[in-house]
Amino acid sequence: MPDSTLTNSRIVAAYREKTRKSAALAKQAGEIYPSGLTHDSRRLDPYCLYADRAQGSRKWDVDGNEYVDYFGGHGALLLGHNHPDIVKAVQAQAARGTHYGSGHELEIRWGRLVQKLIPCAELVRFTSSGTEANLMAFRLARAFTGKNKVVRFHGHFHGWQDHVAFGVTDHFDGTPSTGVVPGIADEILLAPADDIEETRRILTSHDDIAAVILEPTGSGFGQVPVSKEFVAELRRITEKRGILLIFDEVVAGFRASKGGAQAHFGIMPDIASLAKILAGGLPGGAVCGRRDILELLDFDVTAAKGKEKIGHQGTFNANPLSAAAGVVMLEAVDTTDATGKAIAQAKKLRAKVNRVFEEEKVAWSAYGQFSEIHFFTNLSNMALKPSSFDPFKLKRKDFKADKIMVTRFRLGLMVNGMDINGKLAGKVSAVHSDEDLDASAEAVRKSVHMLKNEGAL
Ligand SMILES: Cc1ncc(COP(=O)(O)O)c(C=O)c1O
Repeated sequence: MPDSTLTNSRIVAAYREKTRKSAALAKQAGEIYPSGLTHDSRRLDPYCLYADRAQGSRKWDVDGNEYVDYFGGHGALLLGHNHPDIVKAVQAQAARGTHYGSGHELEIRWGRLVQKLIPCAELVRFTSSGTEANLMAFRLARAFTGKNKVVRFHGHFHGWQDHVAFGVTDHFDGTPSTGVVPGIADEILLAPADDIEETRRILTSHDDIAAVILEPTGSGFGQVPVSKEFVAELRRITEKRGILLIFDEVVAGFRASKGGAQAHFGIMPDIASLAKILAGGLPGGAVCGRRDILELLDFDVTAAKGKEKIGHQGTFNANPLSAAAGVVMLEAVDTTDATGKAIAQAKKLRAKVNRVFEEEKVAWSAYGQFSEIHFFTNLSNMALKPSSFDPFKLKRKDFKADKIMVTRFRLGLMVNGMDINGKLAGKVSAVHSDEDLDASAEAVRKSVHMLKNEGAL
């Protein structure tokens, strides 16, 4: 499709018309940041939205437009924006100190909640992000097994560090992305998560594999889902071959169930990484797992066993502000039905959106299993009924979408008051009300009308 499709789109014109102040800020940002961006996922053609404030399930941009927000702080906001209990805890902590350079009681409460909620978490170590948590997970696995190779799956995202930078959106042949040394890429084996036979072949034909890491509900939190059987088979093979299984629960943790994907599936990984919901909307991550593995971070145990300790620093590990927010968040997960409520609201949202697609005779689908919504835009025009679409039957290649269509649909949603991410995925929180869901289904309908009006559907 020629670029003029977007330039001439009335949807793009409507977005520009409503977001003039965002456009002005984007222009300034372009003078400071590469692409004017502070995170690649916030990229949007013609320019990204600039938010002014947020509350609960809603956010407002600098032009005063209101959105039902499903970007959800990149998935961190299970209790919505600025939950009063989190605000109170963070404000109180800010007045008492943001960094002590020593231990503090909140880090004990925070870590205990992780141990209580996440089945594999015999021991825990906080980091500042999910990227860091996975980096440590790799190091632990290599030090524990004495082996180097890590198996990852095509499309599964684990942050931006060197070992995980390729094979996600490009370099599916396993060659290193620019800036990554080949030696690192040589130690990574990429496998297809939609092909258990090939995955089994890779796992059984190497004797130097330390670990397998995956997003346990599928890449993009189930945008390309994996089945419980697939994960169970990975557990069986890895256990048999002395390979460690790492669940990247940065998104799935506290969202797929209170105890993450591992509790949902009833499958125990050896190591899990956490972030996002973990820190209640503030920065934070953690690696957790089997005692005998995490003990490689312990001064005394490693000394007693004559092993080399893994060093680990990080100025903001378990910082008091993130701990304050994290404790409130995880207590809510533990003692309320926040996780279940978000899952239930997401299910209702998907049903409402699919009703719109059926009424509008659009062969797309809203799908997902937990507190998320994914949009399948059916690039290959397969026959499908929106409400009974089964993403488990598809291969990864079938989820390909037309970039221009995705941008137009997303802008249409934004013009009509709904914000989701650039992969056409949204996270639902425990505070999205039925009214929010109705407004969102209406935004989908209006966006579909806009696409029809310019001949795109
Ligand atoms: C599954 C998964 N793993 C790891 C990360 C990286 O986490 P962070 O952005 O905190 O570094 C993300 C971030 O989106 C993620 O979705």
